[in-house]
Order: sequence, then structure tokens, then C-alpha cells
Amino acid sequence: MTQAINALRNRIESRSATVAVIGLGYVGLPLLHAVVKAGFHAIGIDHDPDKITQLRAGGNYLPHLGDELAADVGREATLAHTDDALADADVILICVPTPLHEDRTPDLTYVERAARAIRTHRVEGAGERACLVCLESTTWPGTCREVIMPALGSGAGVLVAFSPEREDPGNRTYTTVSIPKLVGGVDEASTELAAAFYGSVVERVVRCSTSEIAEAAKLVENVYRSVNIALVNELKVVLEAMGLNVWDVLDAASTKPFGYQRFDPGPGFGGHCVPIDPYYLAWKARAAGVESRFIELAGDVNRAMPARVVERCVAALSESGVALSSSQVLVLGLAYKRNVADVRESPSFEIIELLRSGGARVEYHDPHVQNTWPGRRHDLGMASVVWSAETLSAADAVIIATDHDWYDWQFVADHARLVIDTRHAMAGTESGRAKIVRA
Ligand SMILES: NC(=O)c1ccc[n+]([C@@H]2O[C@H](COP(=O)([O-])OP(=O)(O)OC[C@H]3O[C@@H](n4cnc5c(N)ncnc54)[C@H](O)[C@@H]3O)[C@@H](O)[C@H]2O)c1
Repeated sequence: MTQAINALRNRIESRSATVAVIGLGYVGLPLLHAVVKAGFHAIGIDHDPDKITQLRAGGNYLPHLGDELAADVGREATLAHTDDALADADVILICVPTPLHEDRTPDLTYVERAARAIRTHRVEGAGERACLVCLESTTWPGTCREVIMPALGSGAGVLVAFSPEREDPGNRTYTTVSIPKLVGGVDEASTELAAAFYGSVVERVVRCSTSEIAEAAKLVENVYRSVNIALVNELKVVLEAMGLNVWDVLDAASTKPFGYQRFDPGPGFGGHCVPIDPYYLAWKARAAGVESRFIELAGDVNRAMPARVVERCVAALSESGVALSSSQVLVLGLAYKRNVADVRESPSFEIIELLRSGGARVEYHDPHVQNTWPGRRHDLGMASVVWSAETLSAADAVIIATDHDWYDWQFVADHARLVIDTRHAMAGTESGRAKIVRA
């Protein structure tokens, strides 16, 4: 078998290996592009036939990545919506979703399905041909060894490693290629081969001694964000109760050049990672017989924020003599963060649902999200309204949920009547018509 592994190493080093990426979403699509650009024969597989059709036609369904990237993939990779394309792969990268069940326990259905497909189409009947399987999806420490290996039915020629994606959609400084890549295998040979492969695709590979270290490291990164976001969200409530502007306090605190990293409060937390991944660690901690109180507390604090924003809105409306039940409210920004179209787990949805349940007529505007579609938890059935002075002035309250660069905040100050600002977006505006309330 050493011979087969050496042959695979040679194919990787000479770039003659065939590399398949399973799942062409936020993580898999830019990764497939990096693989193509590194000179490998690349296969992209996604079970969503619409994505494959769009890519083949030169289209793009993830605008933040740029049309050129998607067009390169459409031109240079082999694309398929079925798993049989895996038969030719030497290296397989799994980039499928890892969501939570309703009770916030890990849902590894997609990962298990992908692993079973690899077993059926690549591992079984492959004879002596070795292959490397790398899991990129965020998950609990132990998944490669306890879930992937048994699902693959792995023999000696199947090498397994974890290499977490650290993608930050919309980040213009770091790309798939320039973000350091952690790599940890289930054994030394797997780590070595995975490091050799990623070393030919990205600028810097960091080896971990085991797959579990790499799996846990990714979770630590996201727990860190969740806890710090919760901390500033709580500080916002605490400082506002004392009549202090949290953003003024943070401006002052962040002049310290060491020992402090700035996080900013907002209307909650969103995205595929921070609201979800920490619970993977909490679940594994429980299985190990320990509690992870910080993780649970951070989730509780962050999830309570949309209700607080609505409370502030209700109080401000009432001061203007308007009841929520007879009000019209405009929410600015549906995406969970600035300058992207990603609405997954966005707190704007919760804010809209809460306003609606209180009887308000609610509209939203987002330059990057033209309409809503049915999701796992929400089905708002809405479309972004036209951006105009009339739209702003017609609303009894305007809630700033996402501070996209697209917005002209002075225009908002000049035409809205009441602004509930969750992002400190109105800080640089001169006083206009609008009364501004921080939330
Ligand atoms: N989005 C991010 O910023 C980000 C960052 C770091 C890590 N991650 C992690 O990466 C993983 C993937 O996240 P994402 O944001 O790319 O998800 P995504 O929903 O954007 O994309 C996943 C894709 O996989 C496809 N898919 C699902 N099961 C499949 C299967 N068995 N075979 C083929 N295709 C399949 C889906 O159709 C979808 O297109 C998750 O574990 C996530 O936690 C995401």
C-alpha cells in the first residue's frame, strides 16, 4: 500500500491528480476555483442541479465572489450534480453544510451522505488506487475518526484529514489562497499527504498533530467570536442603562494597542458559522461529561438581541404617539452583515417576525437582497422596496439592521422620521429630520 500512497503523492506533486470538491457553496466554490488555478484537473459536484446549470452557463449565484471566479470554474472544471463523477478522483474535499437540529444538536446528515457516496463511487472496487479525503465542513472534534472513517469503510489506501475552511464572505483582504490552512490527519501519512496537497493550492499550511486538534481549533475560532459578540451586546445594554453610548466607550477602549481586540454590538448575530458552530463543541462537551457555560450563555445573549431592538422601537414609537399595531416600519438590511447578500441566520428575520406579530406593517430594503425565499425557520414572502425619500418618510420608524456601504446615511437622516440605529451608522450624519435612537 505504501506504493499506492507514493503514487498518489507523485500525482499530487506533479499536479496530475484529479481533485473533486463536494458541495459548491460559500466554501466549496472558491475552493474549487483555487484548485483549478493550482493546475489540477478539478471536478465540482453539487446536488443542486440549478447551481451546476448556472455555472456551466457562465452564471454566478454568489455575487460577493465576483462573476469572473464563477466563469473560470464554469470554463475550467468538470461539473456534475451526481456522485458518479467521484470515481475518477484522487483527492476529495467535502464542503457540505453542517447545520443544527431543532434542539441545537449537530446534524451531520450531509456529511454522512457525502462520505457514503465516496464509499460507493470511489472506495469500493478501486483496487489498489489510494485516495485522500479531506473534510472542510465545520464539525465536532472526532468526526473524521468516528464518523467519516467508518462511513468510508476505509482500508489502508484511504487517507483522511480535516482542514477547516476559514472563509469570511465579503472580506477583501484575505482569500481562500491567502488564509493559512490548518491540516490534521487521522494518522501521520494522512497529515503528510493532506499538507502536500494543500501546500500546492494555498500559500501557507499549518500542520496539526491530529484531525481532532484541527477540528477543535476551528470551533475555538467561532466560539471566540460568539462570546465576544455576546459580551459587547451585553455591554451595550449595560452602558445604555447608565446613559453611556457604547460606541463612544469602545472607541476609547480600542486605543489600547495591545491586549484588546474590538468587537462591535449589533442586532444579534448571524451567518452560517457563529450562531451554529459553537453548539457543536457544547454537544461534544456534554458527551464528555462537562458543561460549556460560556457557549450557552453567549448564544442566549445574542439570540435575545432582536427582541431588545423591537422593544426599543416600540418605546420610541410610543413616545411619538404611535402604537406598534398601527405603525409602518421599514427595516434596512436583510443580510446578516455589511456588503454581502448572505441572509443565513440573519437577525433581521427575527426582528421582522416580532414586529409583524405585534401588528406592525413591515417593509424591508436591502440593495443586495431583492426578495426573500422560504428558509428552514422563516418564510417572510417579501421583496425589497424601492429606495426613495418617499419610502423613508412613509415609515413611522426605520430600523437600521445592516450598515451596507451602499447606504447614504445623511439621506436617511434627512427623510426618515424616527431611526432605530443598531449599528451606529448614523454617527457621522448631521442632524436632519429624523429622531435617532440607538438600539
Ligand atoms: N459560509 C462560510 O462563511 C463558512 C466559513 C467557514 C466554514 N464554513 C463551513 O463550511 C461548510 C459548508 O458551508 P457553506 O457555507 O459552503 O454551505 P452552503 O450551503 O453555501 O453550500 C453547501 C453546498 O453543498 C451542497 N450539498 C449538500 N450536500 C451535498 C452532497 N451530499 N453532495 C453534493 N452537494 C451537496 C448544497 O447543495 C450546497 O450548494 C459548513 O460546515 C460551514 O460551517 C462556512
